[in-house]
Amino acid sequence: MPRKLFVTTALPYANGSFHIGHIMEYIQADIWVRFQRMLGNSVHFVCADDAHGAPIMLKAEAEGVTPQQLVGRIGAERNKYLDGFHLGFDNWHSTDSPENTELSQDIYRKLKAAGLIYTKPVEQFYDPVKGMFLADRYIKGECPKCGAKDQFGDACEHCSSVYTPTDLGNPYSTLSGAAPELKISEHYFFRLSDAKCVDFLKQWVNEPGRLQSQVANKAKEWLDGKEDKALGDWDISRDAPYFGIPIPDAPGKYFYVWLDAPVGYLASFKHYCAKKGIDFEGVLADPQTEQIHFIGKDIIYFHTLFWPAMLKFAGRPYKVPDHIYVHGFITVSGEKMSKSRGTGISPLRYLEIGMNPEWLRYYIAAKLNANVEDLDFNPDDFVARVNSDLIGKYINIASRAAGFISKHFNGDLGSFGKNEGQRTTAGPVLAVWGEETAIREAYEQREFGKVIRDAMRLADRINEYFDKCKPWELAKHADNPERKAELQLVCANCIWGFQVLTVYLAPIIPSVARAVFSKFFGIDKSVSWDDHRNLVDRVLPYQHLMQRVDPGQLDALFDLPPAAPAKEQKEVTETSKNGSHSRSAATSSPSTPHPASPGPAAPAAAAAAISIDDFAKIDLRIAKIVKAEHVDGADKLLKLTLDIGTEQRTVFAGIKSAYDPATLEGRLTVMVANLAPRKMKFGLSQGMVLAASGEATGIYLLAPDSGARPGMKVK
Ligand code: 2FM
Ligand code: ZN
Repeated sequence: MPRKLFVTTALPYANGSFHIGHIMEYIQADIWVRFQRMLGNSVHFVCADDAHGAPIMLKAEAEGVTPQQLVGRIGAERNKYLDGFHLGFDNWHSTDSPENTELSQDIYRKLKAAGLIYTKPVEQFYDPVKGMFLADRYIKGECPKCGAKDQFGDACEHCSSVYTPTDLGNPYSTLSGAAPELKISEHYFFRLSDAKCVDFLKQWVNEPGRLQSQVANKAKEWLDGKEDKALGDWDISRDAPYFGIPIPDAPGKYFYVWLDAPVGYLASFKHYCAKKGIDFEGVLADPQTEQIHFIGKDIIYFHTLFWPAMLKFAGRPYKVPDHIYVHGFITVSGEKMSKSRGTGISPLRYLEIGMNPEWLRYYIAAKLNANVEDLDFNPDDFVARVNSDLIGKYINIASRAAGFISKHFNGDLGSFGKNEGQRTTAGPVLAVWGEETAIREAYEQREFGKVIRDAMRLADRINEYFDKCKPWELAKHADNPERKAELQLVCANCIWGFQVLTVYLAPIIPSVARAVFSKFFGIDKSVSWDDHRNLVDRVLPYQHLMQRVDPGQLDALFDLPPAAPAKEQKEVTETSKNGSHSRSAATSSPSTPHPASPGPAAPAAAAAAISIDDFAKIDLRIAKIVKAEHVDGADKLLKLTLDIGTEQRTVFAGIKSAYDPATLEGRLTVMVANLAPRKMKFGLSQGMVLAASGEATGIYLLAPDSGARPGMKVK
């Protein structure tokens, strides 16, 4: 009986492009889904944009667009990535959709009817200037313990003490700088602490095989109240202004984004069902359906507690998730990734510079296992694995063996050894077949690293057989019928081994697998798992299947546009060979060329006019320099740690000639907060600080008037 699977990946926030962390998760889920489909199982695989919440509302406001426009713009660019990396979602939808409104409100009404919703007044900080309640991340002030300034509302970065925003001394809103006021508002709660919820969750979490053991243990700690995040009731409402779904019969109240986000899984599926004429409720109500969510380790809490409880007590047609498959984070050269900004690798740039998406799929698969472990993208390792293993071992088999078959046998692989039992040689095909169960199991368990280790071991074995049999020697005696038959047998065995490996690797490198079948075997079909049994009879002349990685492409990948902060700085401070200071050509107007020999301190020519919209694209923020350090081996750079209210950034700035780092710590400046991060020799630079420089010597860091706070927008 084919399995019936409903599979999702976590819904990405709709306020930014995909970063490599998203793509890694999608690749993981896509490999698993392709494998299931190859086995003949039915899979509905969907995702959507997570559109609601205060950060998206505020970002849209900062850009002068509606949240719907912002979400629409981000949504419009998704396909480039999904197609580019061969991610085979059936549907991509949005949580800001009629389906999600209907389903979220339906689930809420059912939870209310089950007696699991109640209201109570909550006292919270309110920004009188913005006219809105402030989530903890938008409040800062002095640590109640050590007095350190500009600490977030939940914990002190200085002394690590933990507290609530109301404990802060001189609190201020990071949105407006205003002193927040305490205000009471009625909030809606989901009674998660109810005994029936807790009992259900304990049983759900403990179901053998449902969750990875690390995940189940974590969930049990929460359920047993061993962690500080002990199971309490869940505040599911937010007050207007909020970009979200209205709570029925509660004017001015919206669902907290984390309530409607997972419902978005169902909304996307419902949207898909309507398009395809599938019975949405029928699929959910079918006891055979398995509901599986792939997520990252940072959102386990929501997926193992709130989400199953919501579904359970909403009742029919909803079903509780069967599995939550959790992965770790991706680091790049050991460097951690920021959730919102990603790392120095831009997936889009990867595609734009012509890097093969299947190299990345292969590399990520090679490093993935079923545990909640972080995975590191290392450029040298990437080049080695793709060039030496994927191409050097696997692709190489076809290119080595095919020439002899084309030249001496016109593509015919011969009839011997085709069916099991008739085999006349202990050829490598048997060895490759022998691993079928292990590889199938490894896929099922999401042990993709093992799949690749096994496949490469088998590729080695085929190559060793080829080398041992020396077909190039046999070919020299092709006039001898026995030698010729042996030549055909050796090469056919290698090609059959290659065929079986191609089937095994097809979930990871689907486009290569398809090309092997269509261009090399002349069979234009989607590859199924059974194709490992039906060995082909003939091959077409070998055509190139995959290029090697040029290590230069990795340099290009990390050299992110637009012009990088340190480079900009370098351009404005560099002394040209003739002793005068040169400006970056990029900042001078084409219509106003430089004078041949600028006089001392001559003001630079003005740049070409831009519109206010162009200017608005630059997100300038007040930044506090919390740390300034020399960088080993750098002549011009200082490493700055900048606080911009909501997060800290690292920026490498070319200001070493003008500033002693000790004098910079604690002062405010202005940074470009939305400059694409740039991977530099010394680390990742996540923005640029603004400084004045000109024909006269000196670099002058910008500073705001007193009263400005980190994170304030400069416009
Ligand atoms: O953490 C995040 O990126 C969330 N947008 C994930 C939501 S997953 C699901 F619940 F929708
Ligand atoms: Zn402190």
